[in-house]
Amino acid sequence: TRPINVTILGSGSWGTTVASLVSGNTPTLLWSRRAEVAEEITSRQTNSRYLGDHRLPASLAATADLADAVARADVLVVGVPTQGIRETLEAAAPHVRPWIPVLSLAKGLEQSTRMRPTDVISECLPGHPVGLLAGPNIAGEILEGKAAAAVIATPDPDIAASLQPLFSSVRFRVYTNTDVLGCELGGVLKNIVAIAAGMADGLGVGVNTSALVISRGLAEITRLGLAMGADPATFSGLTGLGDLIATCMSPRSRNRRVGEELAKGRTIEEAVEVLGQVAEGVKTARSVVELAHEHGVDVPICEEVDAVCNEGRTALQAYRGLVRLRPGS
Ligand code: 13P
Repeated sequence: TRPINVTILGSGSWGTTVASLVSGNTPTLLWSRRAEVAEEITSRQTNSRYLGDHRLPASLAATADLADAVARADVLVVGVPTQGIRETLEAAAPHVRPWIPVLSLAKGLEQSTRMRPTDVISECLPGHPVGLLAGPNIAGEILEGKAAAAVIATPDPDIAASLQPLFSSVRFRVYTNTDVLGCELGGVLKNIVAIAAGMADGLGVGVNTSALVISRGLAEITRLGLAMGADPATFSGLTGLGDLIATCMSPRSRNRRVGEELAKGRTIEEAVEVLGQVAEGVKTARSVVELAHEHGVDVPICEEVDAVCNEGRTALQAYRGLVRLRPGS
């Protein structure tokens, strides 16, 4: 039988890492919107902007030709930042073969619509089975060969099971789940809490306070998820608590680093500039707060992060807001 061709859209740190993983199992093509990045990956096996001098597998091919990249795909993986998904898929749609499964790697909400990435994908590519790959997966650690696990969530369990071997390796264990909503919300919401955790640690709080931010953050994630119809058990798994812990603790997390920069007294614009990469939580915080209010859910940590990202509140003011006792919450 013919091998399964996988195309990954987006050559950022995670898109490139997932492409590297998959290329060990099946023919894999990575699409970059920048021709020079595609060229560097194919000819030198590096992606220096995102992954320094790390050597990528020689079997990994890259291209900047979107139409050609998607036309070959038996499985399509969407690894562009959330705010770029619609534009990328609208351009790709005429060339995508019918019925092929599409997996999202994105952990944000579309600002203009408040939609989850899998819903944006379904709207751009109607008729395709759509799911996601998520979990506590700091790209740099996975490239270094450190063990990790993730979840493929699709509404149809047979589709997740058929995709599982393409993404698995001896050090990357892939589980399956049918709670797409719960798995996706965990990844979206933990980024907001990680900004709060970065601010708190940057201000020099104790471990007790960090644990307060993480555990009350999990309470906010679970409450909103429950109100939206997710399975509450999902939030104590890899895509919920697991990803929350990894992102709040890792010095490599982009969202956590934004929080740390804010704690040094930088503005949100300066913090984003210093990072030089997309931290999804910055553009998603407002959408999460609006969504929570729409569902009548109290999210005090997300509100503080939203005020810092969008209203000029300082990390110190947010910290005072975070530790203020709120009866009943
Ligand atoms: P950052 O986007 O904050 O780097 O988080 C990475 C991540 O989602 C780990 O699972």
